[in-house]
Amino acid sequence: MAKTHMQLQEILFSQGFGTRRVCAGLVQQGLVTVAGEPCDEPSMDFEPKGLQFTAQGVAWEYHEKAYLMLHKPAGYECSQKPSTYPSIYTLLPAPIRQRGGGAAAGVQAVGRLDQDTTGLLLLSDDGKFIHRMSSPKHHVPKVYEVTAKHPVDDKQVQKLLAGVVLDDDPKPVRAAACVQTGENRLSLTLTEGKYHQVKRMIAAVGNRVEDVAGLHRSCIGSLALPDDLKPGQWRWLTAQDLLSIAAAPAAKA
Ligand code: URA
Repeated sequence: MAKTHMQLQEILFSQGFGTRRVCAGLVQQGLVTVAGEPCDEPSMDFEPKGLQFTAQGVAWEYHEKAYLMLHKPAGYECSQKPSTYPSIYTLLPAPIRQRGGGAAAGVQAVGRLDQDTTGLLLLSDDGKFIHRMSSPKHHVPKVYEVTAKHPVDDKQVQKLLAGVVLDDDPKPVRAAACVQTGENRLSLTLTEGKYHQVKRMIAAVGNRVEDVAGLHRSCIGSLALPDDLKPGQWRWLTAQDLLSIAAAPAAKA
């Protein structure tokens, strides 16, 4: 349950500004302001909900749990320990990566996108939310904009809707929706998240996802990637965004 009041040092710690000792030190050194006023007493109590503070000049708002969206750029891996490309976590400010402290500190991506895939990625430190969003049982629809190497035709669209068999499972996987949006372009809605699912489904109908800028996730539920969130940028999800995630995406014309 959300605490009604917390000590300032605890608030800073919960938001990822360092260990408890570091957070107490920041307050004692006069490096913290709360609602515009300096505060140098680490054990001073505040109502955390919606609290605006600064720590070492960084403006922050208290969030009991973190729910974020990131516009994932190409050339980043969705792993904490990337093998070849930089990690998407390097695109987030340090407090977001450190919140909560301990071994499970920070936010985690809800599912993964390939290094060359761009678009909407959710991150959170709420384990239940991550589980609900990634569980195939919940069938959260995700919309992918695909640019294919070869022209798309109606036969391919119909096969994707009817279901194709991938190499790791005899049970066919089908697109919940599939609309041709250009000569080489498709908008594909999936409710599962198997490994390389879009690329493998497109290959299964005799086409191929273009190597560069071929795959972009535009929506999760009815939450669309905002036009003003540029590649590499992130923002907190609003209460409305969280409701939109659970709602079905609008059908494409
Ligand atoms: N399907 C893929 O093939 N790659 C992604 O990154 C996401 C879905």
